[in-house]
Amino acid sequence: MAPYVIARIRDFDAMDRVIASVAGRSIGVFKVGGAFFAVRNQCPHAGGPLCLGDRGGIARSSEPGTFDYSRRGEFLRCPWHSWEFDLRTGKSWFDPERVRVRAYETAVLDGDAVLACEAKVSDGAASEAEGREPGPYQVETYPVSVHDDYVVVEI
Ligand code: FES
Repeated sequence: MAPYVIARIRDFDAMDRVIASVAGRSIGVFKVGGAFFAVRNQCPHAGGPLCLGDRGGIARSSEPGTFDYSRRGEFLRCPWHSWEFDLRTGKSWFDPERVRVRAYETAVLDGDAVLACEAKVSDGAASEAEGREPGPYQVETYPVSVHDDYVVVEI
């Protein structure tokens, strides 16, 4: 699996989700409390833009006039026909074992860790291992560091 940078953590200060195109897929990354969850932006019902839907939690009542509301913001409701999915697992609310949307691992990496991942991917030794040989011309390179934290999705 390869990590793909979605956004800086501070980008989520002004919004609760980022929808990005990753390796040909539209994926929504959501901030819930201090955690990040990612699901495919394609509803398994009829292909609706799931990640544009509203978020909610679970309301339970043991008697009239009282209720408990929990897991605030952890369920995503499709804007087309209101099927609901658990952002933590991708499982549907109504049939969790059979109906689900693809969920992806997320991580928070600091800028230097992101650069290290990218360097590993573009490393000449890795190219040789893939059957490619370094060419005769080299460009001058400079050390780079990035001082920020990034949300990444593993695909
Ligand atoms: S397309 Fe999402 S509920 Fe129908």
